[in-house]
Amino acid sequence: MKVPFVDLKAQYQSIRSEILPQLEAVCENTSFVLGPFVKEFEEAYAKFCDAKHAIAVNNGTSADQLAIMAMIKPGDEVITPPNTFFATTEAITAAGGKPVFVDIEEDSYNIDPAKIEAAITPKTRMIVPIHLYGQPADMDPIMDIAKKHNLYVVEDAAQAHGADYKGRRAGSIGDAAAFSFYPGKNLGAYGEAGAVTTNSEEVADFVKLYRDHGSKTKYVHDIEGHNMRMSGFQGAVLGVKLKHLPGWTDNRRRNAALYNEHLSGVDGVITPKEMPYAKHVYHLYVIRVKNREGLQSYLADQGIASGFHYKIPLHLQKAYEGMGHKSGDFPVTEKVMEEILSLPMYPELSAEQIAYVANAVKEFIAKS
Ligand SMILES: Cc1ncc(COP(=O)(O)O)c(C=O)c1O
Repeated sequence: MKVPFVDLKAQYQSIRSEILPQLEAVCENTSFVLGPFVKEFEEAYAKFCDAKHAIAVNNGTSADQLAIMAMIKPGDEVITPPNTFFATTEAITAAGGKPVFVDIEEDSYNIDPAKIEAAITPKTRMIVPIHLYGQPADMDPIMDIAKKHNLYVVEDAAQAHGADYKGRRAGSIGDAAAFSFYPGKNLGAYGEAGAVTTNSEEVADFVKLYRDHGSKTKYVHDIEGHNMRMSGFQGAVLGVKLKHLPGWTDNRRRNAALYNEHLSGVDGVITPKEMPYAKHVYHLYVIRVKNREGLQSYLADQGIASGFHYKIPLHLQKAYEGMGHKSGDFPVTEKVMEEILSLPMYPELSAEQIAYVANAVKEFIAKS
C-alpha cells in the first residue's frame, strides 16, 4: 500500500464541480488581482475566525511580516520559539525586528509561557507564539505577560485554521494573527496565499495599505509599501474551500483519534497530546521516537511518506550563526526536535491506511 504524506488530488476531485465554475467566473470577470472574489473570502474568513478584519495577502510569510510590522519599530525585539518554520523569523527580520528565542513546553511543543519573562528586555515589543501543528499555544498566560510588560502579540496561526483556545478561535486572541494558505495547509489555496486577521482598525489599515504599494487610491502613495496582494483565483478557491473546512477538520481529528488508538501505550512512541484548553486541528500528526531517521526509512520501504517538522532548531541554523547560540541553549526544543516524525495526515486518509501506517511504526519499534 502507498500512503502519501498529503493527497491534494483526492481533495480536488471531491470539490472539482464547485471549484471549476468559480475559476471560470474569475476569468469572465477578469478579477485577477484582489477584486470581488478576494473581498468575499476576506469577509467570510474574518467571520470564521471571529475577528473584525481579515486582509488577504500573497502568502503566509507576508502575513507574518505585515502583522508584525504594523506594531513594531526597527530594532525591537520579538520573542518566538525556535521550533517554528523559518518563515516566522524571516518575517520578524523583514519587519525590522530582532528574533529572540524562548524554549517550548515538552507536552504541547508550543512556547513555554513560564520562560517568556526571563527573555524580556527594555527592547522587547512583541511575542509571536506559534500554534504549532494545529494546536494553539497557551494564550491566557501569554496575553497576561504581554499586558504586564506592554507588549503586542501576533499569533502565527499558519498551521491552525479553525483551532480553538478555551472556545476562542485561533486568530482572534492576539493583537493580530497570520495565516498561510499554502496548498498543503488545512485551508490551502491553489498557489500561494495568506491573510492577516485582527480586531484592530490600525493594524487592518496598515496591512491593506502596505500590501498594495502604500496606496488606497490608484497612483497616490501614502507610504512605501510592497506588492503583497492576493490573486483573484486564490480568493475564489479559498471561498469554496472554506465551506468544507469544518468537515475536513472533523476528519483530521477523527484520523488523529484513530492513530492514537493504535499507538498510544506503545512503548517507545509518544503520541501528540491535545491540551485541555485546546481544540487541535492536526495540520500535522507528530509522534516522537528515539530513532526517527531509522523509522522514516523503514516507513519509506513500506511505501509510507513522513516528514520532519522541523529538521534543525532555528537557533542552530547557519543563517543565525550571528546570534551566537550553541547546542544546549534551548534544551526542550532540542530534545523534542531530535525525536519528532510527522506521519501522513489529511482529511481523506482512510482507517485502513492509518492502521497500515501504525502497524509499520509498531513493527519498527518491536524490531529495534
Ligand atoms: C508556522 C508557519 N509560519 C509561517 C509560514 C509561512 O507561510 P507561507 O509558506 O504561506 O509563506 C508557514 C508555512 O509554511 C508556517 O508553517
